[in-house]
Amino acid sequence: MASVTSLAATVNQRVADALSAALPEAGAADPLLRRSDRADFQANGLLALAKKLKGNPRELAGQVAAALGADDVLHTVEVSGPGFLNLTVADGAIIRTLAARAADDRLGVPRAAATGTTVIDYAQPNVAKEMHVGHLRSAVIGDALRNLLDFTGEKTIGRHHIGDWGTQFGMLIQYLIENPDQLAPAADTDGEQAMSNLNRVYKASRAVFDADEEFKERARKRVVALQSGDRQTLDLWQRFVDESKIYFYSVFEKLDMEIRDEEIVGESAYNDMMAETARLLEESGVAVRSEGALVVFFDDIKGKDDKPVPLIVQKADGGFGYAASDLSAIRNRVVDLDATTLLYVVDVRQSLHFRMVFETARRAGWLNDQVTAHNMGYGTVLGADGKPFKTRAGETVRLEDLLDEAVQRAAEVVREKAQDLTEDEILERAAQVGIGAVKYADLSTSPSRDYKFDLDQMVSLNGDTSVYLQYAYARIQSILRKAGDTGPAAHPELALAPAERALGLHLDAFGATVAEAAAEYAPHKLAAYLYQLASLYTTFYDQCPVLKADTPAQVENRLFLCDLTARTLHKGMALLGIRTPERL
Ligand code: ARG
Repeated sequence: MASVTSLAATVNQRVADALSAALPEAGAADPLLRRSDRADFQANGLLALAKKLKGNPRELAGQVAAALGADDVLHTVEVSGPGFLNLTVADGAIIRTLAARAADDRLGVPRAAATGTTVIDYAQPNVAKEMHVGHLRSAVIGDALRNLLDFTGEKTIGRHHIGDWGTQFGMLIQYLIENPDQLAPAADTDGEQAMSNLNRVYKASRAVFDADEEFKERARKRVVALQSGDRQTLDLWQRFVDESKIYFYSVFEKLDMEIRDEEIVGESAYNDMMAETARLLEESGVAVRSEGALVVFFDDIKGKDDKPVPLIVQKADGGFGYAASDLSAIRNRVVDLDATTLLYVVDVRQSLHFRMVFETARRAGWLNDQVTAHNMGYGTVLGADGKPFKTRAGETVRLEDLLDEAVQRAAEVVREKAQDLTEDEILERAAQVGIGAVKYADLSTSPSRDYKFDLDQMVSLNGDTSVYLQYAYARIQSILRKAGDTGPAAHPELALAPAERALGLHLDAFGATVAEAAAEYAPHKLAAYLYQLASLYTTFYDQCPVLKADTPAQVENRLFLCDLTARTLHKGMALLGIRTPERL
């Protein structure tokens, strides 16, 4: 179904038409309609236009106002200030537009005009290592961006660029060769066991590595065997990857996130491309030999003493590292996956790496005007003290511990409020509330900013939290259940109370908000919208009795507003990856 035009867009078009009727020389000028406190909308575009046409802005606004006139959409049109137009819409127009919206399963969200294929690199933990708080943001932001892009019609392909390659595997594999039953594959291993097995092997191998020079040498040789594709070495490497995946999946499940196996394509997957990537860069002169290594220099990237900092494509000993795998991944994504956009959701502390990698790829012609790359470098999760989040003992926080604690806190909140919930239901809701709280806190700040991880605040019922939104949703569902046989129905003939208008006009903006959040990679804009929606609903609920409204038509119309609010909350939260339980 084609998406439904919003009332804001209709009004904007009306003003634009009036503008070109009154002033043919203005061409197709945008009236720049915005929501306003003084009226429903304000058109600000006439000021700039008057300047361009060297006219008087108030006079110009007057001409446009006269050409507009009032009708069944526009209630009043007024010139204000230096040359703004203040516009009030008719109550009936609000409800009519929303009624069309309610019949549209996209809830008014337009499909993007130009779509392509975005390869999104997110949720990238490292093999044989525990996931920590630093891995939270990439997963949560990446998942939300992907949902947003998918919904606006972009084709998305996920890539979990896991750290599954590198010198540390020499040590791990060599240890396993010398201690064969240490990572015995068990069919029923769960995530926790898998990680504790890996931790044990990691610690034990590290200890031997640090203490025994001969083992160190054997481990070094093992790296060479791995990189040259020795069968036995690769089989053992695969055991580490498989065991790690059991663990990753358990954490992603806790995060209520779906990860597809075919999209877990780690650094190792590009191993066969590395030599060719280096050759292409060297032959084209993009990379040069320097002290035996193959490197790329940049005019504007300098380190201490003003010395240029190069990107190392190949080390002097012939080995390839992180840069070579990312450059090879770009070739793969552009050539084989036909990507038009490469999106990376990676810690801002890696932004220099990506600047260099992207610039290298541009020089090589792999990126250009048709194929662009962006790093959504996200900020750091901070503790209450404003420093990077650590445990009391100063260690990095395990992601699982943090999620478990959030769910536990949420259980307390749910239990306190629960009226007709069974114990099983309380536990199920606790997971939805707790994980939702963690995701929402992350997504409601602009990705580039740091934020404090404060569980008390995150599960608070008042304020900008997911549980506040979830309660608003559940409350609406409870009203709809109580309404029994009386269903929601739009009644454009009714006059609206101020709280109904405010809610209705905000509902009207859902489509534009989702489109903007997707186009700008800004999930926090959707979060802010939803919070405002829940707040406006709370005001409406306080001021406008629903089931005890004056007339049956008014009951139906208010149920209609309730229902559309609930559907909008549900859809918006789902785009952020957050559940909305029917009862809380
Ligand atoms: N595994 C890396 C880490 O934990 C992140 C990978 C980011 N993606 C990429 N294409 N480099 O730091």
